[in-house]
Amino acid sequence: MLAEEAVKAVPEKWPFTPHVMSLETSIIREILKVSSLPGVISLAGGYPSPDMFPVEDLRKAANDAIDEFQSTCLQYSFSMGIPQLRETIAARETKLGAKTKMENILITSGSQQGIELVARAYVDPGDYIVTENPTYVGALQAFNFYQSKYATVEMDDQGMLVDQVEDAIKKYNPKLIYTVSTFQNPTGITMSTDRKKALIDIALKYNIPIVDDNPYGELRFSGESLPTMKALGGDAVISLGTFSKTIAPGLRIAWMNCPEKIINIFEKVKQCADLHANTFTQYMIYKYMQSGKFDEHIKEIIASYGEKRDLMLKLMEKHFPAGIKWTHPDGGLFLWGELPGGMSGSELLPRAVEAKVTYVYGRPFFPDGSGDNTFRLNFSNASLETITLAIKRLGKVFRENMP
Ligand SMILES: Cc1ncc(COP(=O)(O)O)c(C=O)c1O
Repeated sequence: MLAEEAVKAVPEKWPFTPHVMSLETSIIREILKVSSLPGVISLAGGYPSPDMFPVEDLRKAANDAIDEFQSTCLQYSFSMGIPQLRETIAARETKLGAKTKMENILITSGSQQGIELVARAYVDPGDYIVTENPTYVGALQAFNFYQSKYATVEMDDQGMLVDQVEDAIKKYNPKLIYTVSTFQNPTGITMSTDRKKALIDIALKYNIPIVDDNPYGELRFSGESLPTMKALGGDAVISLGTFSKTIAPGLRIAWMNCPEKIINIFEKVKQCADLHANTFTQYMIYKYMQSGKFDEHIKEIIASYGEKRDLMLKLMEKHFPAGIKWTHPDGGLFLWGELPGGMSGSELLPRAVEAKVTYVYGRPFFPDGSGDNTFRLNFSNASLETITLAIKRLGKVFRENMP
């Protein structure tokens, strides 16, 4: 009886909301599918290198967490996150220059959730958000869900052109300023200290929150270390940090560093979303950080990614035809390229796939739909050998298709 009724169900007619129906599949996920075809080398995803995951130390941390906390680390826990980890993160943020208390830290399920919580909390349909043009595509996905609009600001090698922000604010009355100010995804560019200060001044003048999404800040290979937006802007800034690129993304543990006066609002929003982040991986990361190995581990990541970046840049110099330009980031996971006029990153991708190499074309990163002549290359995930092959292949594709 019940089974027969079930056969009559027409779930595809169930009334999804218009904003769910308008969700698009992530183009990057689609590109990642072709990237996993046999023999294809992917420079597409933003994956950290699996060789860099501290597997044995995490195994020990997992055991230590169970030994010390027993069933507590498998139980429901606080929406704000476990106090031990919040305290550890606050101390680290302070050490890195942003004076932070445990009361400022909310543990999230990835910094992607931090972006989502911010959007839930502030964005009504039609509200504007100031973003860099281009910006992180995952943030655009999260913001689009809330039907936001974008006041886009162009970039140069010093980051967002902050002198355009005030006009954008006057014109669009935005709810948020979202930036990836350090080793930006997708460009690898870092905002200069002067620009950060100017942006903070504008944000304070109009009382608009700056959301500084900072997953890559600790991965600096060259150049002098700069103060973060949070260190400079204090309560003018909500910053998002994550262990995805410094430990392992599958643990899904990240944090918001948020003004104390409003963190209880985010606590409630977080409760609605998923009650709390994974209890066990929070304890695991806490024990891993307590073991004192984290700093040494980050140094190893920096040495490895720095070597890969150097190799990729050297090979691009050798194999890419004149007329293509690219960034020289001091850290992070990505290089960003610009093809000469008339060439399209999206149209060239199928030819690159034929040549058994993939990248992400740039257009999805541009809220204003421009940027078809751009592309992003990831240097963290492939090995030195595969990077060598991949850049040779890509250079050939570009040379054969120059206008
Ligand atoms: C700028 C930026 N923000 C957020 C994220 C999401 O990271 P997480 O794994 O912490 O959710 C990424 C991941 O690539 C990113 O590049």
